[in-house]
Amino acid sequence: MSLLPNVDVRTRTTSGTDNLSAIRRRIVLSAPKVDRALPWTNHESPWAILVSEVMLQQTQVVRVLEPWRKFLESFPTPEACANASQADIIRHWAGLGYHRRARSLHGAAIMICSDFGGKVPTSPDLLRRLPGVGEYTANAVASFAFGEPVAVLDTNVGRVLSRALANRPLQRREAQDLAQQLLPKAKSVIFNQAMLDLGAQYCRAVPKCEECPIAALCRWRQEGGVDPSKKSAGVSRPQSPFEGSRRQARGRIIRALGIETLSLSQARAVVGEKLGDQTLDVLSDLRSDGLIEERNGRWSLLA
Ligand code: ADE
Repeated sequence: MSLLPNVDVRTRTTSGTDNLSAIRRRIVLSAPKVDRALPWTNHESPWAILVSEVMLQQTQVVRVLEPWRKFLESFPTPEACANASQADIIRHWAGLGYHRRARSLHGAAIMICSDFGGKVPTSPDLLRRLPGVGEYTANAVASFAFGEPVAVLDTNVGRVLSRALANRPLQRREAQDLAQQLLPKAKSVIFNQAMLDLGAQYCRAVPKCEECPIAALCRWRQEGGVDPSKKSAGVSRPQSPFEGSRRQARGRIIRALGIETLSLSQARAVVGEKLGDQTLDVLSDLRSDGLIEERNGRWSLLA
């Protein structure tokens, strides 16, 4: 019986071959071609892999490379991270934005030390107990650090599945189930990495089908129609411009507070003219996120 009663993935082609296994095989074979040789691939330290996956949650690979290296230089183990102050972790989040992730990662390091003997847990269920670790990150760490046979589903993989396999938008749960069905029992790590790399380099929002190694088996390419990935759950929309955004204002304040405390008017100057009026709102948001505090009219990173 199919594991996927709701997903018509057309497991038989006209030639009678099994389409799912043909695509699976093609993806595994394409692994060397699509491999980006990223420094965390096959890394021996599960902690280094967890850090990379948290950083990659909302930030592109090229922007993660250097901060990842520097972060691990300062905090090479969960223990080193857990023993640092939150303010120090935030300072080392240099340029990555979305600082709540840094706070969560610090919390995860503390929990790894208190509940898991200082070792990153191996199963997706245990990994999901860590702050800031959702289904994607738990599966990615379980697979890449421990070889657990679980499928990794992010935005990029979601596009590959909805286009190449289903040629229709997929709900998140359907996409996760389909990814799991597609995952080979052996070589699951190579497969997961190849899916991420395929999605990031070929099956992009604007796809590069001419060069894509699985184009010949892609259902969307064979059948045509509107891009099914556009309405798929979990496939992100383009981000709004960074310039002049609240995100930019948050980043500026956090960076300045990494050096010294600020009064409201100093914070306003740091934010700049365009968003200056929103300074107090931005400070309040950062305080609600548990990143900063105010005492006697001066703002600082929460220790
Ligand atoms: N995006 C998120 N995790 C990734 C990984 N391990 N490799 C490539 N791209 C990724």
